[in-house]
Amino acid sequence: MSSPRTRPLTAEQKRYLDGALRVNQAGELAAILIYAAQTPPILRSHPHLRTLMKHMYDQEAGHFDTFNALIAKHRIRPTLMYPVWRVAATALGWGTAILGREAAMACTEAVETEIGQHYNDQVRSLLEWAKHAEEKGEDIGEELTELTSTLRRIRDEELEHLDHAVENDAKEAKPYELLTNVIRGGCRSAIWISERI
Ligand SMILES: [Fe+2]
Ligand SMILES: [Fe+2]
Repeated sequence: MSSPRTRPLTAEQKRYLDGALRVNQAGELAAILIYAAQTPPILRSHPHLRTLMKHMYDQEAGHFDTFNALIAKHRIRPTLMYPVWRVAATALGWGTAILGREAAMACTEAVETEIGQHYNDQVRSLLEWAKHAEEKGEDIGEELTELTSTLRRIRDEELEHLDHAVENDAKEAKPYELLTNVIRGGCRSAIWISERI
């Protein structure tokens, strides 16, 4: 039996992937910078968090490498907002860590809630494409199948960070509602912008 033919991407699907990979790369850069900025102030007062902070940072660094490689391979232009996100992410990490351990964890909780959802949307889109291709006796090809499982793994790691943040008293941050709503709103705007420019 011959393997199914790979369904070529439509122009719209290509545009979607370009935007998705661009925003993922920017988001992972931001994640690295947030943790890098949070770590020194947090460890000064809570040295026992060293292992956790390093674990989350290392996973983010891995995510960033993944999307850097994909962006380079497919010649996707990074977002024009790259320098702005660098400053914003560092300020967010530093600012929340100065407020204390709970605020730093609330920041992680807020960011990972949005990012987990964001990766979930991408996984759902790719599964939909796979389903449509299959209905026509075709498939989405090895590369997109691999991307689907990469996105799933990264999503799971982000949700793991979310759990760590909650276990470490994110909900005790004051003012929790204001802080998490502002950060979540900021994430959504950053995603919206980075998908487009
Ligand atoms: Fe990440
Ligand atoms: Fe993360």
